[in-house]
Amino acid sequence: MKIISQLVGCGSYLPQNVVTNEDLAEKVDTTDEWIISRTGIKQRHFAAEDEYTSDLALKAANRALEHAGIDGSEIDLIVVGTTTPDRTFPATAVRIQKHLGCRSGAAFDVQAVCSGFIYALSIVDSLIQTGQAKTALVIGADTLSRLLNWEDRTTCVLFGDGAGAVVVKAVEVEEQSPDEPGILSTHIHSDGNLEDLLYCDGGASTTQTAGYITMAGKEVFRHAVTNLAAVVTEALAANDLTDSDIDWLVPHQANKRIIDSTAKKLKMPIEKVILTVQNHANTSAASIPLALDHGVREGLIKKGDLLLMEAMGGGLTWGAALVRW
Ligand code: UT7
Repeated sequence: MKIISQLVGCGSYLPQNVVTNEDLAEKVDTTDEWIISRTGIKQRHFAAEDEYTSDLALKAANRALEHAGIDGSEIDLIVVGTTTPDRTFPATAVRIQKHLGCRSGAAFDVQAVCSGFIYALSIVDSLIQTGQAKTALVIGADTLSRLLNWEDRTTCVLFGDGAGAVVVKAVEVEEQSPDEPGILSTHIHSDGNLEDLLYCDGGASTTQTAGYITMAGKEVFRHAVTNLAAVVTEALAANDLTDSDIDWLVPHQANKRIIDSTAKKLKMPIEKVILTVQNHANTSAASIPLALDHGVREGLIKKGDLLLMEAMGGGLTWGAALVRW
């Protein structure tokens, strides 16, 4: 017998306040045309002043639990991918634990910026396979609007706030086959030599402030195209699968041009890609579970579909996950 991780529900939440490119053009030297042509972004959601990452995460988590038909008290592991925790410590995940009424198990955050959801899913998959957890919540939640430098038009137009969550359950199978619903494999990478390409210039032990996002956009773009092509190839090879086996690409939503490049590498028509970047912008760790939830609720992703998720972010970090829904 073998224990595998099955995704049994998903949910997401976006703050109410929608900010269009035109809205931004009123306070930043930019245009709707520039933002759309360079990124594909048309609008983003910003959290209200008194709305925190944990508020977004909790709403997404409750929706995922409802979708899965599971009570919060059954959860024995909560991992939140976030770069914008409510507090420097403790982890945002323990707030979710408190609000869900869980008193046992473990809850912690993972900090891998835009790759946070893939990292969190990878850790949860390992803990489930080794029998340390049975029913987990994997959440990606961020309020990157709090880290925007409104004097830097090259970054402030790119990001939005949101949260997405999945419920992952341990299931015993005789043998894992690629046709069995569940996580087939996860692949995570980082290269700290490239940390200065994308970072936030604050920190508890340095400035004692959260700081602002700084990015060498063109270079990050170049690394994203290369690393994402490599990691999707790695994920398929690890499972003896090919491009044509994938039903849906569920990518991190940073830039439509990066997504197009990965889809092209996989020879996938854009109709087979879940696209939300136009409406959400880059929501960091939240973007993949937000896209997944969108795909499921719109009836695009169906039971048994093979999903390829991939992301790259500050660190640089990157990764992929192959999941049979
Ligand atoms: O999720 C984490 C991973 N992050 C990413 O994947 C982001 C990767 N990078 C990118 O998506 C792109 O590099 C950007 C969207 C950030 C920038 O696009 P680009 O095609 O690389 O543009 P650029 O930085 O080379 O700038 C081109 C021009 C510059 O003007 P000049 O020097 O050619 O006169 C910029 O000053 O566009 C100008 N520009 C803007 N113009 C209007 C930069 N930002 C803006 C703006 N509005 N907001």
